[in-house]
Amino acid sequence: MSGSLTVVGTGPGKADLMTPATRAALDRASDLVGYGPYLDRIPPGRADQQRHASDNRVELDRARHALSLAAAGRQVVVVSGGDPGVFAMASAVFEAVEAGDPAWRTLDIRVEPGVTAMLAAAAEVGAPLGGDFCAISLSDNLKDWSTIERRLKAAAEADFVIALYNPASKARPHQLGKALDLLRQVKSGATPVLFVRAAGTAETKVVAATLAMADASVADMRTLVIVGASTTRTVGRWVYTPRSERLT
Ligand SMILES: C[S@@+](CC[C@H](N)C(=O)[O-])C[C@H]1O[C@@H](n2cnc3c(N)ncnc32)[C@H](O)[C@@H]1O
Repeated sequence: MSGSLTVVGTGPGKADLMTPATRAALDRASDLVGYGPYLDRIPPGRADQQRHASDNRVELDRARHALSLAAAGRQVVVVSGGDPGVFAMASAVFEAVEAGDPAWRTLDIRVEPGVTAMLAAAAEVGAPLGGDFCAISLSDNLKDWSTIERRLKAAAEADFVIALYNPASKARPHQLGKALDLLRQVKSGATPVLFVRAAGTAETKVVAATLAMADASVADMRTLVIVGASTTRTVGRWVYTPRSERLT
């Protein structure tokens, strides 16, 4: 049997937010490759299934390892959190294919979509992504902070709803504060800001604020921050962005 490589995402956390197609791929796999905590979310599979857990920072090494296993005839599943194509492993796999053994280009490689944190977080608070929106990662591990600032400013000026991934970590405690200050220069202080921690899990916590009052220290690496557009509003405990943006 020839090998294959499928990249999946476990969704935000709750078992029922993992798609049936992802479950089926996991059931078929001879080998699971991924960051340890993501692999831990997956119940034991077939008895002969092997797990290859690795550190979160070595995405390209992990991708190359997975491709080598598939090239050797294994049925490999690479596991990400959320959706595998959103700030996750699917890109690392294709980057490794592009730079690696030309034979890898003919492998059976698939990507299964998953529920990304932005969608799970939006559903916790209502419908803030009902109009045009964008997603920006605040991590400068793989890009310059000046690039992040340029994109934040452009997104604010274009009046997108902005979903901020990777808002903070122990190594990067100050970036969300800087990002919110930059957004305050363009957007109204009354703009709704939602801090959604552990969306789509049993431990979800939501903090709702305005841009003027938002406290960056609320966020950690399990938080998704949504900053509204000028049309985003609050009704009761819900936040939504209307479908219509007509000015008349
Ligand atoms: C490297 S990105 C991976 C995103 C993932 N592939 C996805 O589609 O959700 C990690 C960031 O996603 C966000 N995140 C992931 N799971 C989350 C959850 N359950 N609730 C809130 N934010 C989450 C956080 O901002 C975290 O720092």
